[in-house]
Amino acid sequence: MTILVTGGAGYIGSHTVIQLLDDGADVVIADTLENSSAVVLDRIAELTGRRVPFEQVDVSDPQALDRLLTRYDVTEVIHFAGLKAVGESVEQPLRYYSHNLGSTLTLLQALDRHGIRRFVFSSSATVYGPDAAAPAQEDDPTSATNPYGWTKVMIEQMLRDLAAADDRWRIAILRYFNPVGAHPSGLIGEDPRGRPNNLLPFVTQVAVGRQNELTVFGDDYPTADGTGVRDFIHVEDLASGHVHALAHLRRTDEPVSTFNLGTGEGTSVRGLVTAFERASGHRIPVRVAPRRAGDVAVSYADSSKANDVLGWRARHGIDDICTDAWRWQRQNPLGYESLPARRRSARTQAPRRQRYPLLPALRLAGRAG
Ligand code: UFG
Repeated sequence: MTILVTGGAGYIGSHTVIQLLDDGADVVIADTLENSSAVVLDRIAELTGRRVPFEQVDVSDPQALDRLLTRYDVTEVIHFAGLKAVGESVEQPLRYYSHNLGSTLTLLQALDRHGIRRFVFSSSATVYGPDAAAPAQEDDPTSATNPYGWTKVMIEQMLRDLAAADDRWRIAILRYFNPVGAHPSGLIGEDPRGRPNNLLPFVTQVAVGRQNELTVFGDDYPTADGTGVRDFIHVEDLASGHVHALAHLRRTDEPVSTFNLGTGEGTSVRGLVTAFERASGHRIPVRVAPRRAGDVAVSYADSSKANDVLGWRARHGIDDICTDAWRWQRQNPLGYESLPARRRSARTQAPRRQRYPLLPALRLAGRAG
């Protein structure tokens, strides 16, 4: 009974793997490391006391997948792997369609061959499109403004068609709002390659001096302070949503179910900056620029379906998010690659309590999901 996590070395994947291990599950990670770091695997071992089997496999490769699925007794899959940069997808649409659609199809075909039909898919609130209602509900119409978003819309459709054709499948489509924050240990967090596209990683890089100032894209939206409003969800809450989704798939009769994962609360860009300044004690210089193409004014979730059906809810607010994001960035100013060599090569079997005495206290305080 092993859970295959594609993209498990990535930002959301690594936080989810830790929670699955904490839940007592066996996990295998498949990741190309194109957009992630092998250091994450050491960090997961440090935090959980368990070394997760890792396969450097591209899920677009059917032979490699067959080998992996023969080697491990996989019963469930969480599929995070995929290209995710909105701007890049506009410049390279064929690469995005080919990779995201092709790898998911190859993966689903391989799983079908091996009789593995419990599947969790990483979707996005971006599928609510440019005319999204706020709060967004799962049965609202879907659309997109860029190829990345369309790959999410199209894969969701593929999954619904698959579930309609074969009711042995149990598929959960999880629509993430704005994932932010980091593991409370400060050991795992978001490590974007190059200049960050997303708001909070940009803000934390300003605070450590890697960027000079934050550009706020638009302060003329019809919102209280004129800046865009988003539903920022702590990555620990998002990770716990996946654990709940798997539990749901084991008990449901529905071949496919879709859930929003958000807090249900909107925070403006300026509101997030203020919260971060409070959490970090650093002032963030801001320059206002025109709106960014494709951005909506307001996006937040109606998460009542996930609350009711999964028994899940987001527990962390914006202050926890900023505190944890700042701890991660402060401890890893250049991301994973800034580790001293000694630490980078560390392989440890030691239980977490010995190595991170603060963690049990954080857990008792309900901070670690
Ligand atoms: N923003 C800035 N300056 C920046 C970056 C962002 O002002 O440097 C603003 C944006 O204009 C927006 C808000 O901050 O108003 C949030 O932007 P992000 O890029 O952090 O997040 P988005 O809401 O655009 O997109 C995120 C994910 C997408 C996903 C989408 C779903 O990055 O992958 O949520 O709604 F599709």
